[in-house]
Amino acid sequence: MKRVDDFRLKFGRKELVPIMIGGMGVDISTAELALEAARLGGVGHISDAMVQDVSDRRFDTEFVKEKTKFYKHNIDNSDKSLVQFDMGRLAEATKLHVGKTMEAKRGEGMIFVNCMEKLTMNSPRDTLQVRLNSALDAGIDGITLSAGLHLGSFGLMADHPRFRDAKLGIIVSSVRALQLFLRKTARLNRLPDFVIIEGPLAGGHLGFGMDWAQYDLATIVAEIAQFLKTEQLDIPLVAAGGIFTGTDATNFLENGAAAVQVATRFTVANECGLPDKVKQEYYKASEEDIVVNTLSPTGYPMRMLRNTPAIGSGIRPNCEAYGYILDGNGSCSYINAYNAQIVIHPDGKNISVPDKICMCTHMRNYNCWTCGSLTYRLKDTTRKLADGSYQTLSAEHIFKDYQFSVDQQILLP
Ligand SMILES: Cc1cc2nc3c(=O)[nH]c(=O)nc-3n(C[C@H](O)[C@H](O)[C@H](O)COP(=O)(O)O)c2cc1C
Repeated sequence: MKRVDDFRLKFGRKELVPIMIGGMGVDISTAELALEAARLGGVGHISDAMVQDVSDRRFDTEFVKEKTKFYKHNIDNSDKSLVQFDMGRLAEATKLHVGKTMEAKRGEGMIFVNCMEKLTMNSPRDTLQVRLNSALDAGIDGITLSAGLHLGSFGLMADHPRFRDAKLGIIVSSVRALQLFLRKTARLNRLPDFVIIEGPLAGGHLGFGMDWAQYDLATIVAEIAQFLKTEQLDIPLVAAGGIFTGTDATNFLENGAAAVQVATRFTVANECGLPDKVKQEYYKASEEDIVVNTLSPTGYPMRMLRNTPAIGSGIRPNCEAYGYILDGNGSCSYINAYNAQIVIHPDGKNISVPDKICMCTHMRNYNCWTCGSLTYRLKDTTRKLADGSYQTLSAEHIFKDYQFSVDQQILLP
């Protein structure tokens, strides 16, 4: 009987354990978590979501304080169009977050950064260009393009000296999205080094509409594998979304995937950035507690726990400090939803915004509990302690369980 460890993900001559821990913003997939994946011979992700805030917390920098001070005069203005990121500061924060992580890397694995296109930061093209190139400057092993079609993203890095040596890949949820990407990047004569295929059971934002339940990861992987074969393209495929056991992973590896990307199992790792009390909420969740809704201002459906504190919260938009989802014109659908409530309740007190979530502030404060669809099974991966709480696990324990287990077994701590 095969297990994950019988397979290897090959990048040129480099061979890796075919397990990637997916990027989880904002700092849920911490540097510590990614470093463990790399130490164990797999691939870990950090995320560059809200990188200035992450840098402030990791390195005592003051990027957020500075930006807030600079735009303080605009806080009461519902028009956020003038709130822009300083590109030099953005580059600095990215280089700190990525560079310090890479300095700490040990072992044979790799560390990639997850870059979401939907973080439009009130200047989509320029901010993305700075994020991508600064990560390459800081020595990241690879970049995973996510949350968007990224039709221009390879072009934004094409002049970087590491453009052809860093491992660059993209997350797609359909063969069509991959076809579009390949068509748009053809002139650069550079294929992606890997393609992550994320199915409808994943955590975070979904690359599907609200009809997500009609799709199935194995089917999409087979379609994309067939397309690449027809085109005679040899690109490693990475399956993601709802792969909960080593056996689930092995099934994908036996059916054409070169690796798997997993995340939900690691949300209860000691190294994961979620506060301990939130990890307990993930453990306690039942199947009915896990919902997909359209509350994210990005426009993508998102999966989260039903008791997510961010739902219904009416906090004032904090774009002077953050502003990561502002489109190029200073808008975000949370601001519009918030302003609609202010019209009804002009005193601004006890506001509740039912239809959108202020994603920046709530993700930053770990109050938006996004999760994968199998989160309700996490309680079966550990022991209940005498006080009724569940034991959190080391990332190494979870990683090795994926790597070595067979027969749908899950190793308890
Ligand atoms: C808490 C959480 C946060 C996530 N955040 C992101 C993110 O910021 N960007 C992204 O591309 N994917 C994100 N994802 C998706 C994961 O990287 C991964 O592809 C997916 O969840 C794998 O499925 P699984 O959780 O069932 O193992 C997130 C997933 C979780 C559980």
